[in-house]
Amino acid sequence: MILSHPLIERIKELTSLIHHHDFRYYVLDEPEISDTAYDTLLRELRKLETQNPELRLPDSPTLRVPGQPLEAFKKIKHLTPMLSLSNALSESEWTEFDQRAHKILEKPLLEPIEYFAELKFDGLSVNLIYENGYLVHAATRGDGITGEDVTQNVKTIRSVPLRLNTSKPPQWIEIRGEAILPIQEFKKLNEDQLNKNLKLFANPRNAAAGSLRQLDPAITASRPLKIFCYGLGYSKGLKMNTMSAYQNHLQEWGFQVGQYRKICLGTKSVLHFYKKMEEQRETLPYEIDGIVIKLNQLSEMDHAGYISRSPRGMIAFKYPPRQEMTTIEDIIVQVGRTGTLTPVAIVSPICLGGATIRRATLHNQDEMDRKDIRIGDRVLIQRAGDVIPEVVKVILNIRTGKEKKFQFPTHCPVCHSPVERKIGESAIRCVSRNCVAQLKERIRHLVHINALNIEGLGEKIVEQLVDEGFVSQYSDLYQLTQERLLQLEGFAEKSSLKLIEAIKRSVHPELHRIIFGLGIRHVGEKTAKILANFFGSFEAISKATELDLEQIHEIGPEVSQSLTQYFRDPQHLSDLQKLLKYIQPIPPLHLSTNSNGGQLKGKTGVLTGTLTTLSRREATRIIEENGGKVSTSVSKKTHFILAGAEPGSKLDQARNLGIEIWTEEKFLEMVQIKK
Ligand code: IVH
Repeated sequence: MILSHPLIERIKELTSLIHHHDFRYYVLDEPEISDTAYDTLLRELRKLETQNPELRLPDSPTLRVPGQPLEAFKKIKHLTPMLSLSNALSESEWTEFDQRAHKILEKPLLEPIEYFAELKFDGLSVNLIYENGYLVHAATRGDGITGEDVTQNVKTIRSVPLRLNTSKPPQWIEIRGEAILPIQEFKKLNEDQLNKNLKLFANPRNAAAGSLRQLDPAITASRPLKIFCYGLGYSKGLKMNTMSAYQNHLQEWGFQVGQYRKICLGTKSVLHFYKKMEEQRETLPYEIDGIVIKLNQLSEMDHAGYISRSPRGMIAFKYPPRQEMTTIEDIIVQVGRTGTLTPVAIVSPICLGGATIRRATLHNQDEMDRKDIRIGDRVLIQRAGDVIPEVVKVILNIRTGKEKKFQFPTHCPVCHSPVERKIGESAIRCVSRNCVAQLKERIRHLVHINALNIEGLGEKIVEQLVDEGFVSQYSDLYQLTQERLLQLEGFAEKSSLKLIEAIKRSVHPELHRIIFGLGIRHVGEKTAKILANFFGSFEAISKATELDLEQIHEIGPEVSQSLTQYFRDPQHLSDLQKLLKYIQPIPPLHLSTNSNGGQLKGKTGVLTGTLTTLSRREATRIIEENGGKVSTSVSKKTHFILAGAEPGSKLDQARNLGIEIWTEEKFLEMVQIKK
C-alpha cells in the first residue's frame, strides 16, 4: 500500500464515512444522511479506487459488491466447534435448569444466579472470523466442526462490519451469530417466487438459508439478510468478564446485536422476560422461537463446561411452535382484486402461536400439484408473523386412500364466467369486468389503512354495499348518504354518521396512497411512493411509456408493463377520473407548487423516543424533504426536538436549553401531512 499518496487521506475518510453511515442505516436503523448523499460518497470512492486500484483499503465498502459465482462451496474448519443448545419447554424445565446451575456453581439455592437473557433468532447460525480486526472468513455451521465457506456472500450483508470498529482489535476472534430474513422480506421473496412460478420457501428460516447458501453472491446480495450476533467462539487477545459486556462490545465494533437483551437476577426475572417477549413476538419483524438464557459471568460459564455437545451454562427456553399439523376439511377458491383465483384450505381449527387458524392458503394450482394436496390430507401448517398461514407439506405416509383430489374450477366461482391462464403465468384468472368478487376486493384495497384509510369501512360493510348495489365503482363511495347506510343491516344513527364522516375525511390523501389503492398489479406501497415522487400527478403517470418508467432506478419491466397496461384501459381511466372528482391527491412536498423550499428550511431537529405513525427513517426523510436536517445530539444549534413515547435523556437536555419540543402530531401538522 502506498501510504504517502495525496489521495489516501480522502480514500480513508470516504471508507470510514461510508462504514459509519452503513452502521447507522443497517444496524441502528437511524440514518443521518439521505440516500442521495450516501450514493454521492460511494460514487466518489468508487471513482478514486478505479483510478487508483492500489489504494483500495482492505475493508473498502466497495468490496461488498458480489464477485463471480462459485463452482462449489469450500469447507472451513471452525477454530472452535459450534455446539448446540439444550431446551426447556416449560416453566418447570427452566427452574430445573436453574437448580442444576446452583449445584454446578456450588451456590446456595437462595442466592439468585445472574443470567443474561436474549432472543433466540430463528435462522441459521454463522461463524465470522476476524484477524487483526478484518473479516477473513465466514462459514455456515455445517456439522459443527466444519462448515461451508460463505465469506463472499456474508460480505454483501451490510450489517456485518468488514473491519471491527476499534483501534485495538483482538488478534483472532470468532463471532457467532444468526442469519435471518425479516418476515416482510420473506413475504416479498415468496410473492416474487410465486410470480415467477418458482418453488416457495416454507418459512423465513429456509429462505434465509437458501439465500446465504448461494453459489452466486449476487443472489445473496439481492436478499436483505441480517445477522444478529450473540456469541463468542475462539479468541486471542480479548479480555471480557460478562456476556452482557461482550455483546455491548459487539455493538460498538459495528455488529447488529439483539435489541432485547437483559441481565436477570434469578428465575423470576427470566420468566418475566420470557413472557414479555412472548407477547411481543407477534409484532417483531423477524421470527424467534424462544429465548436463550446464559450465565452472565463468563468465568461461571467456563466452569459449567459441556455435556454431550451442549454448554451446561446456557439453555434455550422455547415458545410454542408456529408450525402445527391439522386436517384439510375442504378446499375453496377465492377471487382476488385482479381476478386471480386462489385455492384456500379450510382446516380443522388449530392454535398457532396464540392465534386460531381455520384457513390456510394453497397459493395456486401449480403449488397444490407440487405438494400433491388433497381434501382429507393431514398437513403441516405454518404461520410467520402476520403472513397468511400456509400449507407447508402433506404428511404422505399417513394417507388412508380416502383423500380426494381437488378439481380446479374452469369457471369463476362467483360470477361463473370462464377462467383463463396466460402462458408463462402461474395465476388462473377470472377476466370478467363485471365480477362482484373482484369489485369487493378492489374497494377493500382502496379503503385500506395504507391507501385511503377510511376507518370503519371493513370487509363486511364493503360486502353489504356491493351486494345491495350501492357501490359498483370507486366514486360511488363518495355518493353514499347517511339515509342509504341506514337501510343496511347493522347501521344505526351514530355508526352511519361516523362512516360518512370518515369518508369525508379521506378526500385529501397523499398521491402515493391512491396509486397504491388502485391495486395495480405489482405496484405495492414502495413502488407507489417512488412513482408519486417521480411523477407528482396521475396525469403524468398515465402518460408515461414503458421506456419512461424503466428510466427510474427501482422500476423493472414487470411494473412498467403492468402500469402502462393499466392506464391504457379506458375502463380504468374512466373509473379513476370519476374518483378524482371527489378526492384531491396531495403531491409529494418537493413537487408541490406551494412548498417554497420546505417548511423546515435551515432547521435542525433531533429525534427521541418511539414515534407511533412514523418510523425514524420516515421522519428523517420528511424532515430532509422539507429542507431540514437531522442531528443525533442536542446542542444550542438544535431548533426542535421530535419526541415520541418513552423519550430519552435528549428530551431533558432540550428542556434545559429551551428548545422547542414537538409531538408527532404537531410535527405532521408542521409538514402538512395528515396521518
Ligand atoms: S447461543 C451452543 N444465542 O440456536 C450454541 N444461539 O438451538 C450457542 N440461536 O445453534 C448458541 N439465537 O444457531 C445462541 N441468542 C442466541 C441465539 C442462538 C439463535 C441459535 C443458534 C444455535 C441454535 C441452538
